[in-house]
Amino acid sequence: MFQDNFLWGASTSAFQVEGGFGQGGKGIATTDVRPKKVGIADTKVASDHYHHWKEDVHYMAQLGLSVYRFSFNWSRILPDGKNINYEGLQFYHQLIDECLKYGIKPFPTLYHFEMPQALVDNYGGWKSRQCIEDFAYYAETCFNEFGKKVDLWASINEMMVVTSAKELTGNISSFGDEARKEMYLMSYHMSLAEKRVIRIFRKLVPSGKIGHVCAMQTIYPASPKPEDIQASMSAKDFLQNCFLDMSVYGRYPQYYIHYLQEKGWLPEQSEADKELLQSEHPDFIGVNYYSSSCIRAVLPEDDLSKLPPFYQNENFTITNNPHISMQNEWMVSGIDAKGLYLGIRDLYERYHLPIIITENGLAYSDELSNGCINDDYRIEYLDAHIQQCKRLREEGYPLFGYCTWSLLDLVSSHQGFKKRYGLIYVDRTDEEVKDCRRILKKSFYWYQNRIKEGMN
Ligand code: BG6
Repeated sequence: MFQDNFLWGASTSAFQVEGGFGQGGKGIATTDVRPKKVGIADTKVASDHYHHWKEDVHYMAQLGLSVYRFSFNWSRILPDGKNINYEGLQFYHQLIDECLKYGIKPFPTLYHFEMPQALVDNYGGWKSRQCIEDFAYYAETCFNEFGKKVDLWASINEMMVVTSAKELTGNISSFGDEARKEMYLMSYHMSLAEKRVIRIFRKLVPSGKIGHVCAMQTIYPASPKPEDIQASMSAKDFLQNCFLDMSVYGRYPQYYIHYLQEKGWLPEQSEADKELLQSEHPDFIGVNYYSSSCIRAVLPEDDLSKLPPFYQNENFTITNNPHISMQNEWMVSGIDAKGLYLGIRDLYERYHLPIIITENGLAYSDELSNGCINDDYRIEYLDAHIQQCKRLREEGYPLFGYCTWSLLDLVSSHQGFKKRYGLIYVDRTDEEVKDCRRILKKSFYWYQNRIKEGMN
């Protein structure tokens, strides 16, 4: 599969596009009950893909996509985490069949930030080893159901982001060190769960491929000072290597082990765990990339408590990169297409696996002008990043596909609907759902032509 034609795609995730709250037997998800932020869209209607799926696939075909990356709503398939909802399975059968009708390869992710709230209520979700069993059952259900039609799968999306986002894991009551300890424990359970799922996959979908999706970290040290170099190495270990080393090699980076041991936070590892971790491996790595980061050593006056939990680490902190520009209100780390190239080179040399870009895109508060969206800023961003993909391919890196984020405007993971990434405009706002009419942006037509041009 990896040697076939380059895959041109676009991505979404279920809780960010589907809506269909309470419909078709869907259960309540962690993402449905997140504390509501004033003036920010929730997931109840989202982009109303639940009612527009056919039209959306039609647009994918018009674009000329060869792959569609989406995710299953765990809570649509197993509303309470235990019992199968056949209507939910049917929804995905229709979607997959419609993609296949147009020659678009369906590429589902099993876990993209969303799970049945019942599992959190019952035992704390990923905090408990029971979640490994329940995730394995969910994955097995999906492989049995769709494994004959779908041969490209992703296991878990961005462990770094999800384990630290309380409103996504549903474990909202702990703070400070207790929350950090939980974050590392949940991450360990997810790594084990991924391995269990890969083991099942090998039996049920023997000719398929399954990969791990990471939030790729292209990290620049703020200066050549040894302290900053060390900080940037630590950042890489805590933000990326700990997840990918586990996925690919079944072990944690040494400094990560040392740090967690010192804190008393290193999860217990049984012999059976070790055996499982070492014996199963993904076939490829999915890369989500939006921008790079610049890292320096922590200074005594730094207040880390305001940073996202994965940056609340005394080994490193994030700082501005004076060499990266073109920021808009949403792309706060700036825009750095070359960072995609550098990150993938690095990733490949550590893991030696084929790579697909599973997410890459520009957030902007697009506004309709005479019924159109002339999003030249997005075209510029996509073009610059695709050029880096071309370069990687020319240099022989096994990059087998590119999926832009996102196919259509959707609810941002935590910033509502004003922050738009789509090639297709969805006519709604944070406050008003309206009719969610689809309007093709200028970037849609640009991407359509870029796909025709091909890779190499
Ligand atoms: C990735 C996620 O972290 O980035 C997506 O996989 C998310 O789900 C995307 O939407 C962009 O982030 P945000 O916070 O702008 O939605």
